[in-house]
Amino acid sequence: MKILAIHGSPRTIRSNTRRLAALVLEGAADSGAETEMIDLADYHITPCTACEGCSFTGTCVFDDDVPTLTARMQEADAVIFGSPVYIDNISGQMKVFFDRLADAIHYQVLAGKFGCSVATTHESGGDEVVAYLNHVLNYLGVLSVGGFSVATAGKAEHVEDAGPEAQALGRKLAAAVTSGFSDPVQEALIAGNRSYFRAIVEENRDFRPEEYGRWVRMGWIE
Ligand SMILES: Cc1cc2nc3c(=O)[nH]c(=O)nc-3n(C[C@H](O)[C@H](O)[C@H](O)COP(=O)(O)O)c2cc1C
Repeated sequence: MKILAIHGSPRTIRSNTRRLAALVLEGAADSGAETEMIDLADYHITPCTACEGCSFTGTCVFDDDVPTLTARMQEADAVIFGSPVYIDNISGQMKVFFDRLADAIHYQVLAGKFGCSVATTHESGGDEVVAYLNHVLNYLGVLSVGGFSVATAGKAEHVEDAGPEAQALGRKLAAAVTSGFSDPVQEALIAGNRSYFRAIVEENRDFRPEEYGRWVRMGWIE
């Protein structure tokens, strides 16, 4: 079982969010998971320019690290998203990454995986950012087992205080991989998204035949 955390703080090893995500990974490791942390700030991710290249050819015009990151998520059984709160939203690093996942969302390349989300903030916006990160997981076809945020009020030790909650979240995520997890509300949302994206896959059947075939095999197209 592989569990991957991806966080969008530019403070890398000094990051509160990275530490919180690491505590979630510790819980997952206790349950036998092989874990990995990705600092998005270490990767070259070009902002989407809406050229629609991926829509027309299946390949992004930019030769950067996004295919590597997508492959790492595909190899994992579960994905943890983490972001610091920046002006009551996710960090720019995280948003630039998400914008580049439009193709992965349309073709549902992570469907069937599990995930969860964490955020840290000085005071405001933590819960909203966790909800948004989980929303993006659902867009990707990933079922979230939950998430939470920590408001540090400038004291990094508050992240350590959240250790038991973070580790419990990691254990819950690992249990979802090994024993399954169900949430009818999210499942309905994911099914609704998939029926919307089906039109894109059908329309592009001739130049994305592998994806069309995968959707047929998955039973998402009859
Ligand atoms: C550009 C920027 C914007 C921020 N915006 C907010 C904010 O809107 N509300 C808040 O309470 N804290 C805000 N913060 C504080 C961070 O969310 C907080 O310090 C967080 O724990 C940083 O996480 P990191 O150490 O993982 O980077 C902001 C910090 C930065 C650098």
